[in-house]
Amino acid sequence: MPPGAPWKMATLTLDRVSPATLADQIARHIEFAIAEGSLQSGGRLPSWRDLAGQLGVARGTVRAAYEKLIDRGLLIAAGAAGTRVAEHLPPTIVPPSSGGESLLPQDFHFRSTQALVFQMGVPAHDAFPATLWARLHRQAVQSTSLQTGYGDPRGLPELRSAVASHVAIARGIECSPEQIIVTTGFRGGLGIALRAIGATGRQAWVEDPGYPVTRYALELAGVHPVPVPVDGDGMIVARGRELAPRAALAVVTPGQQAPSGVALAEHRRQELLQWAESCGGWIVEDDYLAELHLAGRSPNALASGGGVERVIHVGTFSKTIAPMVGVGFLVAPLPLARRLIDVATWLGGPPNAALQLALSAFLSEGHYLRHLRRMRRLYGQRRQCLLDTLTRLGIETAVPAALSVMLPLPDDFDDRRLALEACAVDLGPAPLSPWFAADSPPRSGLLLAVANVRERNIEQDCRRLLTLISIPKGVSKEQV
Ligand SMILES: Cc1ncc(COP(=O)(O)O)c(C=O)c1O
Repeated sequence: MPPGAPWKMATLTLDRVSPATLADQIARHIEFAIAEGSLQSGGRLPSWRDLAGQLGVARGTVRAAYEKLIDRGLLIAAGAAGTRVAEHLPPTIVPPSSGGESLLPQDFHFRSTQALVFQMGVPAHDAFPATLWARLHRQAVQSTSLQTGYGDPRGLPELRSAVASHVAIARGIECSPEQIIVTTGFRGGLGIALRAIGATGRQAWVEDPGYPVTRYALELAGVHPVPVPVDGDGMIVARGRELAPRAALAVVTPGQQAPSGVALAEHRRQELLQWAESCGGWIVEDDYLAELHLAGRSPNALASGGGVERVIHVGTFSKTIAPMVGVGFLVAPLPLARRLIDVATWLGGPPNAALQLALSAFLSEGHYLRHLRRMRRLYGQRRQCLLDTLTRLGIETAVPAALSVMLPLPDDFDDRRLALEACAVDLGPAPLSPWFAADSPPRSGLLLAVANVRERNIEQDCRRLLTLISIPKGVSKEQV
């Protein structure tokens, strides 16, 4: 960009049905551009009038967005010279230095702003109960601001009670609130479980294909992941027994396998529980989708039914509410409860009390069950709409996979590159190959999450995606 030339908002699209105001969306986009370095210190922004014209909004909306950022010290109003990015940015927004490497892991993709179409791991942006959540959170902040102590290291008693009642009804788990530990989502729960088991230096079965984050987390904790293949009935337990009979634990997604969406068949459940009983192994049940099951009732949790002593059930509100909430929980099996609570107490600590209180009101006032019912309906419609659209466009190989649609590609296709190209045009599909362990032949494909598919745009979005998929010679469109 030549010096002094105003920066262009080429990639900004506004969502007019979003609960976020247009001014907030513009402000967040500018903040993101500053943080990622495409808008640099001293860079000039377009005038209110120009930007308002470009975006089709009132001038006052752009002005409000600029003023928010001026108040936060990110922009400076320079009179006739227009509005510029501040020379000295607050520490929270320091842009990456030129040529410097980001310290974040390469595979961690985050966008605190609006989700992209097909982006995995985020709920429907237009259906988040933002007003209700803001009210509950505000009330919770007010009532917890008078509390100055540490509180129970397992989490607020009201939230633990609400979670225990919820998992009893919705997941068939018989437990007391004493066994609930509030965590910072699945990753927080897994960290506590690995330490409590004493898994460092030992082996852990993981699903192949399976959630890459689980593999990374195990490796980081000094645990050796052993990829166990998955078929239409879920993890092939007999293969796990052959590969690593004395593994310390198995991490599984029995409700809806990630990414295929298949449920662990009853005979496999029994085999897995028997393996754990017979060798003193532990099963970490990653119940990331909980009741978000789009066809019929979700199968009960592996930890359901009472008397299940080898399963550490880990729940999260990342999928059912939003990852930004950053809260999950763990149901401690009785033989390991004391140890899990020790780890949570001395090496952890629950999330922010106001968040926990807001969440407990969300659950106990019945909003959570209503929200889940709505989301199941909405995601079911969106998934069907996406499948119908792909079929209409001649793609017959796409298959439903939990809250996504899996689009297989020829195996020599570079799906990571394709996903990056899609991201550059504001589409967020995830590549399939990273879900395979390094030593198994990866399958190429794209995972298209359905949460943020909008019926009115879907055909256009699918067409845009399909134009990026140039089929190599010798592969017919039907194979894609
Ligand atoms: C298989 C699986 N487990 C767990 C999670 C949620 O993790 P967290 O609660 O740490 O956000 C996800 C989110 O994408 C997932 O795909």
